[in-house]
Amino acid sequence: ALGVVRPADLTGLRVAVTAGGTREPIDPVRFLGNRSSGRQGVALARAAADRGAEVVLIAAHVEQAVRADAVHPRVSIVPVGTAAELGAAVTSAAESADVVVMAAAVADYRPAAVAERKLSKEDGPLDEIELVKNDDIVAGLVEARRPGQTIVGFAAETAEDAADLRERGIRKRRRKGVDLLAVNDVSEGHGFEQPDNAVLIVGASDTVVAEASGSKRHVADAVWDAVRGARA
Ligand code: CTP
Ligand code: CA
Repeated sequence: ALGVVRPADLTGLRVAVTAGGTREPIDPVRFLGNRSSGRQGVALARAAADRGAEVVLIAAHVEQAVRADAVHPRVSIVPVGTAAELGAAVTSAAESADVVVMAAAVADYRPAAVAERKLSKEDGPLDEIELVKNDDIVAGLVEARRPGQTIVGFAAETAEDAADLRERGIRKRRRKGVDLLAVNDVSEGHGFEQPDNAVLIVGASDTVVAEASGSKRHVADAVWDAVRGARA
């Protein structure tokens, strides 16, 4: 079947997209991670490139088969591991980006120290791992935002119902200071590790400016439509 033919309506736009999930090492073989596959971020990068944008895709632990969808002459892929690495890469890319989309699941905390050698029960029982807070990357981007730069966040929420999801999205959009926040419900078979996604897109007016559900590509196109709307 023929898909919808999109115009090259993002031509000339420079965008940075983060995708995947960061991993915070505990020791040489273990990490604190999350379930993000990177599919939504990859779809965002690919959609932008197909619509004419120049894309930097900062990919945290996105498996090869997923990353393959972003292979395009206008996409350059920067692999990263930890939240600190992702932060450095996206902060640098943001310096020349018109739009930054933070679709990656960034670890809020990391182990205070990384053990040099593999932790072993021979060393005695391990009761706890001390954590320290990671920097809020998107907060730094918002603080350094240039005039005309658009910053988009993503939030995965386990909401009670549709109204709760919407209220959480509005609160978080305001708290993060982003221009747009795409909020997805991960409590009912949507979101992580799923081929389909469903999002509300909250805008700076504290209203839902768009809703989209379906393939991650469809959701990606809705996000770029909302970005165009916010920049108009
Ligand atoms: N984010 C970030 N840096 C972090 C954590 C999150 O830039 N250290 C970004 C994510 O990439 C996402 C947005 O912030 O675009 C919202 O992430 P989320 O985890 O929902 O926000 P938090 O402020 O961490 O709130 P919560 O306590 O609900 O996890
Ligand atoms: Ca978080």
